[in-house]
Amino acid sequence: MSKIVQQDILQQLQQLQRVAQTALAQANTTEATREWYSEYLSRKGRLTSILRNLGSLSAEERPLVGKVANEVKAVLENALQERQTSIAQAELEAVRRAESVDVTLPGRPQNLGKLHITTRVLRDIYAIFTAMGFQIYDSPEVETDEYNFQLLNIPPGHPARDMWDTFYTTTPGLILRTHTSPGQIHAMREYAPEPIRVILPGKCYRYEAVDASHESMFYQVEGLAIGKHITFSDLKGVLINFANQMYGEGRKARFRKSYFPFTEPSVEMDIECVLCGGKGCPVCKYSGWLEMLGAGMVHPRVLQNGGYDPTEFSGFAFGMGPDRIALQKYGIDDIRYFFTNDARLFERV
Ligand code: FA5
Repeated sequence: MSKIVQQDILQQLQQLQRVAQTALAQANTTEATREWYSEYLSRKGRLTSILRNLGSLSAEERPLVGKVANEVKAVLENALQERQTSIAQAELEAVRRAESVDVTLPGRPQNLGKLHITTRVLRDIYAIFTAMGFQIYDSPEVETDEYNFQLLNIPPGHPARDMWDTFYTTTPGLILRTHTSPGQIHAMREYAPEPIRVILPGKCYRYEAVDASHESMFYQVEGLAIGKHITFSDLKGVLINFANQMYGEGRKARFRKSYFPFTEPSVEMDIECVLCGGKGCPVCKYSGWLEMLGAGMVHPRVLQNGGYDPTEFSGFAFGMGPDRIALQKYGIDDIRYFFTNDARLFERV
């Protein structure tokens, strides 16, 4: 009876090995191999349940059955390990194939950002003036009344203050600058009595009736040259050279006499309106010309405030509006587009 039981268990073990090997060959995923393990080799699996019958064997019979059972277990464990390794490789290969880049597909276009039109014009201005020997000088946007007005020959109550009304801070005497001209005083006080050739770019602020060519925040680029024997011809030469480079040789420019408290004599320079070709449009206020800048010879009192002796030194200064230049150069009919964040504006560039 006992022999039959031993034979029976040995047969069961061999059969289990065959069935398990067949089943393992069909397990195609890591998950399936886990299920296979739990069915055949785990503590609740089929191998353990066969071995539960070991108790019915005599002490002599047990070692043989135990040995065979261990062999079956080792064979199945090795087979499992091999199967799992090959499945893992296949799965990795499948992922690699699925994630591989198809180099024949057309690329997706990337929308690249562009510089703001005014920034481009500013950079053009820097290039033109630095080639003429001007350095770029930074001066503050928040100014004192003294620098923005008084040192530029605009005392309290002067009528010119009306044109340059601004935004005030809660600190008395501290304002947002209305023009880049206060930078002239900063540069002069830093360099006097050395000669100067600088441009001063930056934002300006005005309490302005906003329209197609006027913003309440806009850019200016100031220019300042101080030295001995500097004349009005130098000023004209520099500005005409600038206009030719900025707009091309063919564009008409004109000087009009003007008034600024900090220059004497003073002029304004206009460029023929690119938008209407001089015929008249809302941007040029139907005059055919667009005012580009104010300029003049530095007033002796301003030279003195900057630390230069006006009997020995002379100089010229100008202040231009790069936003206005950008309107003209790129044929844009309203300055207010510059701050509306409409990216279509930049398609023109
Ligand atoms: C001035 O601001 C003087 N400081 C310029 C100057 C400098 C004269 C040095 C003499 C010597 P004006 O207010 O005209 O001047 O402004 C100069 C330029 O800034 C204008 O020609 C225009 O191009 C630009 N500008 C003025 N106001 C605005 C505005 N609200 N929006 C856009 N651009 C403006």
